[in-house]
Amino acid sequence: MTGLSVQSPGASVLEIEGLSVDFPTAEGVVHAVRGVDLRLAPREVLGVVGESGSGKSVTALATMGLLPRNAKTQGSIRVKGTEVLGAKEKALMGLRGRTISMVFQDPMTSLNPVYSVGWQIAEALQAHQDIDKEEAMRRAVDLLTVVGIPNPKERAKDYPHAFSGGMRQRVVIAIAMANDPEIILADEPTTALDVTVQAQILEALKRALTETHSALVLITHDLGVIAGLADRVVVMYAGRAVETGPVDEIFYRPAMPYTVGLLGSLPRLDRDGTERLRPIPGSPPSLLGELRGCPFAPRCPMRVPEVCDVEEPALQPAGPQTGGVHLAACHFADKVAAGTTGPIFAATAVDLTDRVAAAEGELRTGP
Ligand SMILES: Nc1ncnc2c1ncn2[C@@H]1O[C@H](COP(=O)(O)OP(=O)(O)OP(=O)(O)O)[C@@H](O)[C@H]1O
Ligand code: SF4
Ligand SMILES: [Mg+2]
Repeated sequence: MTGLSVQSPGASVLEIEGLSVDFPTAEGVVHAVRGVDLRLAPREVLGVVGESGSGKSVTALATMGLLPRNAKTQGSIRVKGTEVLGAKEKALMGLRGRTISMVFQDPMTSLNPVYSVGWQIAEALQAHQDIDKEEAMRRAVDLLTVVGIPNPKERAKDYPHAFSGGMRQRVVIAIAMANDPEIILADEPTTALDVTVQAQILEALKRALTETHSALVLITHDLGVIAGLADRVVVMYAGRAVETGPVDEIFYRPAMPYTVGLLGSLPRLDRDGTERLRPIPGSPPSLLGELRGCPFAPRCPMRVPEVCDVEEPALQPAGPQTGGVHLAACHFADKVAAGTTGPIFAATAVDLTDRVAAAEGELRTGP
């Protein structure tokens, strides 16, 4: 952990406000991102979690100015004060690699098969710094050392195909950190790799952060990854942030049933809390067309139809004691965070167990 989770306004390296991204398709408009606000402090490590299709990559691509041309955006994304949305390609090229860089899931997305890895790192350095090839190659070898490539001087001459998946991802991290960026975005950087290699890649990322003092946005399905690295977490669902807060708050006092589901257990009303549950049944809603009510409602064992099906909950402080740093989008966030949904369920006279069964039955039979 970098230990920097408190954010002061104005000091953010990344400020996303009211970001919406729509894709017009033959079937209709896909609302991929529906109003995301996000700030990243210098050196902060922010974990972004959520199931497939929740809008994580689209948010990251928008931040890099890499969305497909047909994407329709609203809101604002400022990288070190520079607006990215609507920026000219030349301005974006000045930011990318220098102020903000990205590590994709598949390292071959970033590597060119026909050049040696040393040459590619040197090229990244020379794109933003006034240094000669010889110096750039020396620095490339240093960077390969930082990310843990054995025999870096020799390996710099090899082409990407001569490296394993994990070693390629290290090379990509070396490129991402080459110009001491303020922000590194890593979109599922370890998902395609086996468990041992995953740990090594995370270690290489940590070393990159130590060397560059950059902030990190780490997108992942794996909460275990976030636990070891992040200061703060954003949970995304159906194109929105549905919970955000310091990592310990999210792990020990989740306030949104979806987060509780991601963590593998549900709040208990009448049991001892030791039972682990399976992955959340069902799947996220279609993002085609407009959503009504809470997007998690069809899967939520705590849904109260007359409230949850009517109004989409806003992201709000999850209880008075959190000082506004822990936010959740659930009509009953306070109760979830407190670990007791008693009053709500008592008031509606429905037991949680019945709600789980009802929700599952509904999912089996469809809407
Ligand atoms: N170019 C596009 N055209 C139409 N829809 C798109 C496009 N790109 C993304 N989407 C849709 O936007 C939504 C969000 O996608 P995104 O790739 O951000 O999800 P994700 O959270 O990164 O998922 P994963 O964990 O699978 O990577 C999905 O419904 C996806 O199908
Ligand atoms: S608003 Fe209702 S449906 Fe949505 S997460 Fe909260 S309890 Fe569940
Ligand atoms: Mg993705």
